Amino acid sequence: MLELDQLIHEARTRAAASESLAALDEVRVHYLGKKGVLTEQLKVLGSLPAMDRPAAGQRVNRAKQAITELLDARRHTLEEQALAEQLAADAVDVTLPGRGQEPGGMHPVTRILERVQALFTTLGFRVEVGPEIEDEFHNFDALNFKPAHPARAEMDTFYLKDRPLLLRTHTSPVQIRALLKYGAPLRVIAPGRTFRHDYDVTHTPMFHQVEGLLVDKGVSMAHLRGTLTDFLQRFFEKDDLKLRFRPSYFPFVEPGAEVDISCIFCDGSGCRVCKHAGWLEVLGCGLVHPNVLETCHVDTERYSGWAFGVGIERLGMLRYGINDIRMNYENDLRFLRQFR
Ligand code: PHE
Repeated sequence: MLELDQLIHEARTRAAASESLAALDEVRVHYLGKKGVLTEQLKVLGSLPAMDRPAAGQRVNRAKQAITELLDARRHTLEEQALAEQLAADAVDVTLPGRGQEPGGMHPVTRILERVQALFTTLGFRVEVGPEIEDEFHNFDALNFKPAHPARAEMDTFYLKDRPLLLRTHTSPVQIRALLKYGAPLRVIAPGRTFRHDYDVTHTPMFHQVEGLLVDKGVSMAHLRGTLTDFLQRFFEKDDLKLRFRPSYFPFVEPGAEVDISCIFCDGSGCRVCKHAGWLEVLGCGLVHPNVLETCHVDTERYSGWAFGVGIERLGMLRYGINDIRMNYENDLRFLRQFR
């Protein structure tokens, strides 16, 4: 048998010289591995005379334990060294300025929606929401769109595979749902997403509208004009904002009008935004068509009403000076950070 004390001494020297855990493991394999020096020694025991075996076995086992312990001790030292090095490398420089916490912000469309809603809820309007997937009855038929009328085709409708389902092209179907649910008299404001097959600097296939509907006794165009003037002057924070009603056609109102406001950028004297017209188109409105009221079981002898629909992105573009509607939906932080 080899001199075991010599072996232990040699192992200690080699362990101490190992500068990494990998190198130390090689030392372990050399002595204690399957084909290691000590393992070979145990095999040799069989060839000793029977009376010498127990003592020899004990010596080999003791040597094995001694080497195991010295390897463990060295491994512990190496691990502590590695940890200390890592901690030193990762050290935080507490004298650096902090990164700070960036506050989040409301999306411009959300801000405008909430602003419009707030202005109407203070006037006693209740907020009502309808489904974004509508059917032809609520989106068209009940709103007095005749089956062959071109207005139906002009809407650039997205139909679902199972017609009559479609993505609502406007928030006007909520007029129908609210009237059928509550009856007259009624004041509702209906914000939400709308969809049309259209895409350019002023159109995205998904956009938002807010619908307003008021049904009561003695409601007239004068009342509509007064309410919209008050609303738009407050919305743009301009007491001298002027409104212009241009006759227009929507199947669900009679008479129908499009409303222009005096240009908020040049006060009507003409600029690039209003294309030198002095006026900006902002919404559609009119007196609710009797056919619509009748479909919703409202007594047209007693009640009349008005409705309007306004594009939220359009209002946002005017209020914030956004010149491409698509910026709303590109998630560019340079754009979004301006609305904190
Ligand atoms: N629904 C119309 C549109 O989307 C707007 C509108 C609403 C017009 C209510 C009149 C009355 O264009």
